[in-house]
Amino acid sequence: MLDKFNREIDYLRISITDLCNLRCIYCMPKDGVKKLSHENIISIERIEEIVKEAVKLGINKVRLTGGEPLVRHGLAEICRKISAIPEIKELCITTNGVLLSQYAKELKESGVTRINISLDTLDKDKYKRITRGGNIEDVFEGINAIKKEGFKNTKINCVLIGGFNDDEIPSFLKFAHDNDLSFRFIELMPIGEGEKMDRSSFISNSKVIESLSDLVKVEDDGVSSLYKFKDGRGSIGLISPLSHSFCEKCSRLRLTSDGKLKPCLHSSLEIDLKDKHGEELKEEIKKAILLKPKEHHLNQDKKSSSKRLMSEIGG
Ligand code: 5AD
Ligand code: SF4
Repeated sequence: MLDKFNREIDYLRISITDLCNLRCIYCMPKDGVKKLSHENIISIERIEEIVKEAVKLGINKVRLTGGEPLVRHGLAEICRKISAIPEIKELCITTNGVLLSQYAKELKESGVTRINISLDTLDKDKYKRITRGGNIEDVFEGINAIKKEGFKNTKINCVLIGGFNDDEIPSFLKFAHDNDLSFRFIELMPIGEGEKMDRSSFISNSKVIESLSDLVKVEDDGVSSLYKFKDGRGSIGLISPLSHSFCEKCSRLRLTSDGKLKPCLHSSLEIDLKDKHGEELKEEIKKAILLKPKEHHLNQDKKSSSKRLMSEIGG
């Protein structure tokens, strides 16, 4: 279905839990988040019901996020239910990768088509610092495990943070090339815990472009500006919500871990789907699509209007 600005809305992102096994400094508060009570967290049946109504309006791609989706009980069942809906062409997961080696096989069997992994450094000690305690070896094992299961087009998402990982840009490029992966740089956003980051942490993706002279610019991949290595192994993507807003290409709706639809990541607008079923539920989803704002007004001084943590919305 088209929104008011002629954008085709075909992509639903679902935060299936706001809990996480890591505490990345720009995302999660140090002591974690208060656990949502069982009746407030979106149920498996409800996720299925909402996706079934959403496909009637043209949704054909679903991404499960969190928090960390792999800590949600019943993840494989959620995947099986969604992938069984014939209209769904893609079912993706964005994970920190820590538990991937354990779940790779089950996810493949449950119909997951693609996996994105968040990784902000290649250094063991820095990883421990940014995630407040994570072990990078778990992530590397996860990457190998999904390769073994035959997952293709795996993407690594890396939030670029001034003074933390901008010195690693050449190593990231080498990692992408050596492992034939797509490595995507995401600009840090002033939302949730990200708002508290030091000004110097917010740097533009143009810093990466300087290092891409040996790569070839190819056609954009959704919201990511894409560059390929000349020998065809691996690619680099730039996702630049601040320096090059991509709102005109936005095709998404977001469902929060407590069952509210957000037309835009950075707006406080939310549609509560509670007690809505069937035709009425479909009308609410339609309403969310028609409420999508034209663009966000984020920049380094202007913070997101959304008052939620990223872990509730799912990035
Ligand atoms: N700015 C940019 N990206 C963020 N993420 C979480 N918080 C922020 C932020 N403030 C990213 C994570 C992960 C995805 C779920 O969202 O790194 O890749
Ligand atoms: Fe967890 Fe991802 Fe947030 Fe890190 S960025 S704390 S891995 S949800």
